[in-house]
Amino acid sequence: MPRILVLHGPNLNLLGRREPAIYGLVTLDEINRRLQTLAVEHHVELEILQSNHEGGLIEAIQGAMGRVDALIINAGAYTHTSVALRDAVAAVAIPTIEVHLSNLACRESYRRHSYLTEVAVGQIMGFGADSYVLGLQAAILHLSQHAS
Ligand code: DQA
Repeated sequence: MPRILVLHGPNLNLLGRREPAIYGLVTLDEINRRLQTLAVEHHVELEILQSNHEGGLIEAIQGAMGRVDALIINAGAYTHTSVALRDAVAAVAIPTIEVHLSNLACRESYRRHSYLTEVAVGQIMGFGADSYVLGLQAAILHLSQHAS
């Protein structure tokens, strides 16, 4: 069974309460439940982790090397700041889908650059909680088309 790691970065544990006009009212637990349901339907195994720490996210990415078939990551604000996270994704060479709830192209200029985009297969943003569902669907599609 293909294994997919979903990583949620800083402040995403506050979803549902955090700036709901931007990020919506759906909680992280609810997003994770939706992803698990979809994963069962598609016969993929999910691992899910949220961390507010850059090092924790990097260790999770390193720990996925040779073990996980695809990575879905919303790195939160580290998207715009972390060369270290970008390097971790590049190092493990796991197909990675970058996900954001909000449409970064419509937001502050400092959110318009992502260090992850250049090492990701693709980016999904602007669909709120559904960005994660679309991200998982994209990962499953990618794996089915690049089966080893
Ligand atoms: C975010 C966008 C980031 O700019 C922000 O720092 C977040 C969430 C999103 O999902 O829209 O924490 O990644």
